[in-house]
Amino acid sequence: MSARDGQDAYPPVKTLGTILAEVSNLGYNFALMRSVPERGRGVIARYRDLLPVNDKTPIVSLGEGDTPLIHCPRLSERIGRGCDVFVKNEGVNPTGSFKDRGMTVAVSKAIERGARTLICASTGNTSASAAAYAARAGISCVVILPGGKIATGKLLQAFAYGAKIVAIDGNFDDALRIVRELGERSDFSIVNSINPDRIAGQKTAAFEIVDEIGNAPDFHLLPVGNAGNITAYWAGYGEYQARQRTFPERQSNGSTKVPAMIGFQAAGAAPIFYNQIIQKPETIASAIRIGNPASWKQARAAIAESHGAIDIVSDEEIIAAQTWLARYEGIFVEPASAAAIAGLFKCCDSSEAAYSFKEIPEQSRIVCTVTGHGLKDPDIIMQRMRELKPVPATVNDVQRAIDL
Ligand code: F0G
Repeated sequence: MSARDGQDAYPPVKTLGTILAEVSNLGYNFALMRSVPERGRGVIARYRDLLPVNDKTPIVSLGEGDTPLIHCPRLSERIGRGCDVFVKNEGVNPTGSFKDRGMTVAVSKAIERGARTLICASTGNTSASAAAYAARAGISCVVILPGGKIATGKLLQAFAYGAKIVAIDGNFDDALRIVRELGERSDFSIVNSINPDRIAGQKTAAFEIVDEIGNAPDFHLLPVGNAGNITAYWAGYGEYQARQRTFPERQSNGSTKVPAMIGFQAAGAAPIFYNQIIQKPETIASAIRIGNPASWKQARAAIAESHGAIDIVSDEEIIAAQTWLARYEGIFVEPASAAAIAGLFKCCDSSEAAYSFKEIPEQSRIVCTVTGHGLKDPDIIMQRMRELKPVPATVNDVQRAIDL
């Protein structure tokens, strides 16, 4: 049999042109899209039985989830006592943030209900994610943003994915108020985390952690803005506990295990910590620059029920933690995400910490969620890059410049 005969045994390879022609002939062919996650990628494919989808739900996925849970030896050393720290790196989702987990479910359900236009308020990541999933589904997306306060990379994403972008003279809380009102219109489908489908999708991060380490961790640290994510993680851990996928290890009262949830807000945007609405929230971590979180009550409940805490970190601590995590663990995150790491340091070092790690049980397992990729918000690091000046193109000059 010749090589040519062998090739003929396979079906002809489809060119991109043929595939596009097929898709456009069929309109948006969701049967075709459904075949993608069924091959094993995307949170709906993996956790279908735990999500609000059915056979009629057209799955809109970009292969989100299944993010690395990275063991961090140097962070573990900072705590000592034989503890292990893991970083759940959500920055490697398709649009570079954890929002994609909730967006795949919210957009799939919106399409099932016949939506033609998504709408959201955002500090940047939700808009990037909504715009991408809308593009994938072939529907339009409107994003309402606080003017001048969106990190460069995130705004760029919304433009690239073709969203209709409206910048307002106001903050995220104003934008969300407007979106809630516009959401009354039957043609708009809200995809902020006030949409329960978003929370349902985001729970999958907790499922992944338990599936990977074989139990719930002892502590879970994460940044808090609109408070959807802490609500989702707590729901996810609770659901796995109810299904007995977590185990009582070390729990003296015999109940199955859930972690203590410890949330961190930026000091200038900390309504939950101060227990009051912040009219003019300010922080360099623009993703969590929020003064009146939508899931405030749910976050409070998660913290109380888990015997966790809410704490604050300063902008200086956030930037220092961002730099530290990149340099010593090789994980580059955006400032809001670094709030979880700054928070971990505070738990280790500060007598003012809302939760001290000085006396936690030996060999505790701690997970920190880092929520978004560092490349989304390059502005601060860009200032450092100005110091870079070219040297003459000779080995000697380059060697001198290396200075090692
Ligand atoms: N980290 C990042 C990178 C975020 O983008 C957000 C929220 C959070 C943490 C906080 O999560 O709101 O669930 O408590 N970003 C929203 C947005 C508000 O519009 O992209 P949360």
